[in-house]
Amino acid sequence: MNPIETLAIRDWYAPVAPELAAHALDALEAGCVLRLPLPFVLSADEQVLLSDRLLSGARKNISYNPADDSVKGADGDAGLEALLRGMLGRYHASTRALALQLFAPYAGQMRDGRASYRPAEIAGRVPKSWRHDDTRLHVDAFPATPVHGRRLLRFFNNINPHGEPRRWNVGEPFADVAARFFPRLPPDSPLKARLMALAKITKSKRSAYDHYMLALHDAMKADLDYQREVAKTAAEFQPGETWIVYSDQASHAVLSGRFMLEQTYYVPVAAQRYPERSPLRVLERLAGRALV
Ligand code: SIN
Ligand code: FE
Repeated sequence: MNPIETLAIRDWYAPVAPELAAHALDALEAGCVLRLPLPFVLSADEQVLLSDRLLSGARKNISYNPADDSVKGADGDAGLEALLRGMLGRYHASTRALALQLFAPYAGQMRDGRASYRPAEIAGRVPKSWRHDDTRLHVDAFPATPVHGRRLLRFFNNINPHGEPRRWNVGEPFADVAARFFPRLPPDSPLKARLMALAKITKSKRSAYDHYMLALHDAMKADLDYQREVAKTAAEFQPGETWIVYSDQASHAVLSGRFMLEQTYYVPVAAQRYPERSPLRVLERLAGRALV
């Protein structure tokens, strides 16, 4: 299967034909990146946001929490912050409307995560460590935020005003990544997970699933032979394109680009049309036991 599936969707709010929605859900849950010719248009006032000088300190993202309409990581006055809230709030509303058209079985079960605005150039940036180096292929897993099996569904949009694409590589299917690395991953330790939660290193107790996903993320990034040799597909997402992916499943790396929006949603495995394809079920088959 082509890891990148193009869908002819040009409107955030228009109804989607049932056959197209069924195809989109199948491809998404198979681990494909869905690519849509769907721009997110900024107003004339919002054009001032197209600058990386908004970022405070050494930050690479500005983040937005739809739950309380708050923005973090931006330097600027109240006027700029209001513009950021407006843009990111509208991005959240647009992606949610489209998600509910395309992925109807998720209705009532999909939870909002944060949105982020990433104005800074990726190419040439020096990451804090190899673990933070997203130019290496990986699946997403976050050290401080256990998900207990829930899926990470992400909507990306390139709002670059200079005609520059966001360049990604997409790696091998999740089942292949998991089968290759699982035998070398360290076993989970419930005691360590409990201590990390008590010490507030993690926001809740890491499940065995969270442990294995983080270990997989790290093992992929640490293996430079794997990074060089594994089959990968290059993708250039142009300004005006939206792409949608289960980033816990599709192996991905970002090579260059600036000015991108991203909105995260959490989806339970129970809401999946094809739960057997989810990273939780794939890892449980390899482990031979329940992981949450
Ligand atoms: C990532 O999740 O690896 C980052 C993707 C991007 O910033 O394009
Ligand atoms: Fe990632």
